[in-house]
Amino acid sequence: MTQDQLKQAVAQAAVDFILPKLSDKSIVGVGTGSTANCFIDALARHKGAFDGAVASSEATAARLKSHGIAVYELNTVGDLEFYVDGADQSDERLHLIKGGGAALTREKIVAAVARTFICIADASKLVPVLGTFPLPVEVIPMARSHVARQLVKLGGDPVYREGVKTDNGNIILDVHNLHIIDPVALERDINAIVGVVTNGLFAARPADLLLLGTEHGVKALKAS
Ligand code: 5RP
Repeated sequence: MTQDQLKQAVAQAAVDFILPKLSDKSIVGVGTGSTANCFIDALARHKGAFDGAVASSEATAARLKSHGIAVYELNTVGDLEFYVDGADQSDERLHLIKGGGAALTREKIVAAVARTFICIADASKLVPVLGTFPLPVEVIPMARSHVARQLVKLGGDPVYREGVKTDNGNIILDVHNLHIIDPVALERDINAIVGVVTNGLFAARPADLLLLGTEHGVKALKAS
């Protein structure tokens, strides 16, 4: 199976998982990236089964709208049962690295609101220890050098992501060469640096369910 086929399989598995639990009043939180795009396309085939969606990026909002799915502002939504999104890496406890698509802050906000966070990923994303994928950090532009110096003190090698501006008007530093033994502590420590908007560790609020696309079918892993 190709990586694209694995992404489509986990996207379909997520739709199959949430569909029986949706009503015509349900709003679904939707992530960003190529796997999330597969989910949007699969979900769109059932657009009569739910009310609409909250998007974690402008790109996702545009894709949802192109399918005729109503997109709501998060502030207008009371209850969000599900958030479905991809990840750059996951460990076995469903701590994630996200933000390869620079949408980490809005993704983290929607994930925080949702009662159930379903992560969908192909098997290559599951790792024993997070950090071989550079950790994205969203930073207020004027704080770039200050934040970079603090990230070096935490043991990382920050690299400015050239030519990228987030949906919030900020920049991204990708932190290389981290071996993240304690993701909860590192998420907290990086978020405490003045000028950081948020970082791509989803550890304080990990996924609740990981649907992993493998050669032998979709495996479901639950947070322990
Ligand atoms: C975007 C993200 C994505 O979920 C992550 O980059 C995975 O993307 P893809 O599904 O394309 O591999 O965090 O900010």
